[in-house]
Amino acid sequence: MPKNSYVVGLDIGTKKVAAIIGEITEEKKVEIIGIGTAESRGLRKGIVVNLDSTVDAVKKAQEEAELMAGVEIDAAFIGISGAHIKSFNSRGVIAVSGKNKEISREDIKRVIEQSKAVSIPPDREIIHIIPQEFVVDDQDGIKDPLGMSGIKLEVNVHIVTGAITSVQNLRTCVARAGIEIEQVVLNQIATSSSILTHDEMELGVGLIDIGGGTTEVAIFERGSLWYTSVIPIGGDNFTNDIAVGLRTPIPDAEKIKKKYGCVSHPLVDEQETIEVPTVGRGKKPRVLSRQLLADIIHPRAEEIFRLVDNDIKRMGYEKSLNSGIVITGGTALLEGLEEVAEEIFDLPVRRGDPSGAGGLVDRVGTPDFATTVGLIQYGYNLYKETGLPRDRKKGFWSKFKDWLKEA
Ligand SMILES: Nc1ncnc2c1ncn2[C@@H]1O[C@H](COP(=O)(O)OP(=O)(O)OP(=O)(O)O)[C@@H](O)[C@H]1O
Ligand SMILES: [Mg+2]
Repeated sequence: MPKNSYVVGLDIGTKKVAAIIGEITEEKKVEIIGIGTAESRGLRKGIVVNLDSTVDAVKKAQEEAELMAGVEIDAAFIGISGAHIKSFNSRGVIAVSGKNKEISREDIKRVIEQSKAVSIPPDREIIHIIPQEFVVDDQDGIKDPLGMSGIKLEVNVHIVTGAITSVQNLRTCVARAGIEIEQVVLNQIATSSSILTHDEMELGVGLIDIGGGTTEVAIFERGSLWYTSVIPIGGDNFTNDIAVGLRTPIPDAEKIKKKYGCVSHPLVDEQETIEVPTVGRGKKPRVLSRQLLADIIHPRAEEIFRLVDNDIKRMGYEKSLNSGIVITGGTALLEGLEEVAEEIFDLPVRRGDPSGAGGLVDRVGTPDFATTVGLIQYGYNLYKETGLPRDRKKGFWSKFKDWLKEA
């Protein structure tokens, strides 16, 4: 009976650190068996700025998930974000080697390698090179050129880079928590695995993950990733707007946002009221109209969507969004957000709740777990291609035992 296999996702966000342990079942599915979360205090706008408190949060989330699952985490897929992430499209070209001009695995590797030949500043490292499509002798739109015949092989790729120091700080935190890194994965790529449908990614879709400190954007079309960006505005800004607008402490503003928050004035009944604690001890809470709250936070939602819309238009992707826009991340829980987005993008908008895994999926079925659930799905898909870690990385003793068995 083979030992069970696990896939672990670790999302180190600005608001929370979340760890999910997935078990790969014999029916070749992922079942969520462990979930751990911890408040995050060591990040600013998606970037680690305090190692100690981030390590503490990672350990706390890890322990909680391990306790629930009854297994220990040794390796995990880690999400990365922050405004230091820069991504762009590039192209590689090679002459097909071999006598009969049949494209081999080696050629595919070589052409992808060649696409990296663009100059990357010395303070950046490559996080992903994602092939979008191959071109064989000017025939484009090829997904898998293996075995095809041709003289020239080209590939269009999307390259994601990050600031070496920021990536390193993230790695250090995970290492200090005693977790091995399977792979650092761009948040948007992870999130797409739990949120977007195959059809959306084929037809063209914009993914917007509004978290606590950041808004992460990605555009997919023809099954590939074409554009990503990170805007350093998120749910925390809504909370601040409420604290200032209603003159109430931040923790109260956060509670009010979650309980009564709505970004669209017309969706709120005139009669509805909210109770707002006042700054200063002994003062009575005030009763205000909920429409006032909507008026306070509406401009922030509009600002975020306008920034994304301008970005999409500036890059020329407005024609790519045939399936519209999908909003996720914790802030997607704000009432009325889809309506505001629909107005600004003039496109259909839906909220994305993570799906696709089994087990305790109900407990992580809200948009704040989109990235973490996505990480285990991304990891699982990778394992399907490359084999499970236990089959890949064999220590001396297990190799020796295998050898004895075979001998
Ligand atoms: N019910 C709710 N209504 C409104 N906002 C909510 C609700 N629940 C959570 N949020 C907000 O969602 C944000 C956190 O989202 P999420 O957990 O996706 O962030 P994160 O991944 O930690 O941060 P980031 O992605 O920016 O690094 C917070 O600003 C929080 O106030
Ligand atoms: Mg996030």
